[in-house]
Amino acid sequence: MTRPAPILKEDDFFVANIKVPPCSVHTRQHSLTIAGMVSDLSSLVCRRTNFPSILQMGMELKELGTTGAKVPEVGIGTYRYEAGPGLLRKAVELGAFLIDTAESYNNEEVVGQAIQGIRNRVFVATKTRHWKYAEVLRSAEGSLRRLGIDSIDLYQLHWPNAAVPIAETMAAMETLVDQGKVRFLGVSNFSVPELKKAQAVMRKYQIVSNQVRYSLVDRSIQLDVLPYCQRNHVTVIAHTPLAEGLRNILSFDSQDVLGQLAGATGKTKAQIALNWCVSQPGVVTIPKTHSLEHLSENCGSSGWRLTEEQMAMLDKGVHFRRRSRFEARFRRFARNTLQRLGRP
Ligand SMILES: NC(=O)c1ccc[n+]([C@@H]2O[C@H](COP(=O)([O-])OP(=O)(O)OC[C@H]3O[C@@H](n4cnc5c(N)ncnc54)[C@H](OP(=O)(O)O)[C@@H]3O)[C@@H](O)[C@H]2O)c1
Repeated sequence: MTRPAPILKEDDFFVANIKVPPCSVHTRQHSLTIAGMVSDLSSLVCRRTNFPSILQMGMELKELGTTGAKVPEVGIGTYRYEAGPGLLRKAVELGAFLIDTAESYNNEEVVGQAIQGIRNRVFVATKTRHWKYAEVLRSAEGSLRRLGIDSIDLYQLHWPNAAVPIAETMAAMETLVDQGKVRFLGVSNFSVPELKKAQAVMRKYQIVSNQVRYSLVDRSIQLDVLPYCQRNHVTVIAHTPLAEGLRNILSFDSQDVLGQLAGATGKTKAQIALNWCVSQPGVVTIPKTHSLEHLSENCGSSGWRLTEEQMAMLDKGVHFRRRSRFEARFRRFARNTLQRLGRP
């Protein structure tokens, strides 16, 4: 028996799977998951004969770890964010309903204001910079209060800390899930050995994500973190995907590959840089912006894919940093030593 279609109201949020026929970008029919507010649906429907427009408007969703929860492959980050709640609400309307903040960004209140009245349409991710059992619990209480919510969707440990046993920290994180204050647990800036240790001490729940630096011009995680996360269904949340500003990406692109691909696809350079990131399986990203124009542009970097040749042009033609294992180990050693000396 088929279920009757739900009747949606103007301010409802929807997620739908549509079949997309071949177009200039995709040579085969494929399905696309789109999400947005019903109030935006009219413009989508009006353009239904123009599939590239639909692709431009569609936001692809990816499963977070193996939780069954889906998040947009392009969300919004808020490090040093100062544009107020309005733009974050707009991000949600445009399908970028994953908002990433942190206790240390001092803007959880702004995120709280942005999600007032639309809480059920937003996936709220925040982070703690505490590691001791009681402090993690207190830190989460503070985030909940500032965000004005009962439960954090994704609670991430901002950095590893060699000075506190990881079992103590993760036990506190698990307690928060038991108490219903957190839905899913993630980490950030964790190497593979750190991730394995954290997973090994967890008794009930999984680490579903690792938020790490990843962009066209910083591919350090491709050595080990990315393949490990992909194999183990840990979603990579790529932070700093525009290298803190498009100009920093362009300075690595001496052959103007981004310009060539922008010409060929009708997308912008920023869209191509972000699309490269989220084309990697298991990767979502959270660019930060203060402008509506850039926000729409960033949301439009999802819902379509570059061809294999175009991806190869970016892979080979754009210069990038990739820390060697030795450098990564040395940096970890230096950080751990500082933390043990009481300077986290
Ligand atoms: N876990 C961690 O340790 C960690 C560390 C760093 C960052 N993060 C997270 O990752 C998020 C993103 O990183 P980020 O904020 O450092 O840097 P980013 O997103 O790589 O870059 C932000 C910069 O790019 C510009 N920009 C955004 N969209 C653009 C577009 N379409 N065209 C041209 N320029 C554009 C912004 O300027 P406009 O404002 O003018 O658009 C801003 O100056 C953070 O906000 C935070 O949530 C996490």
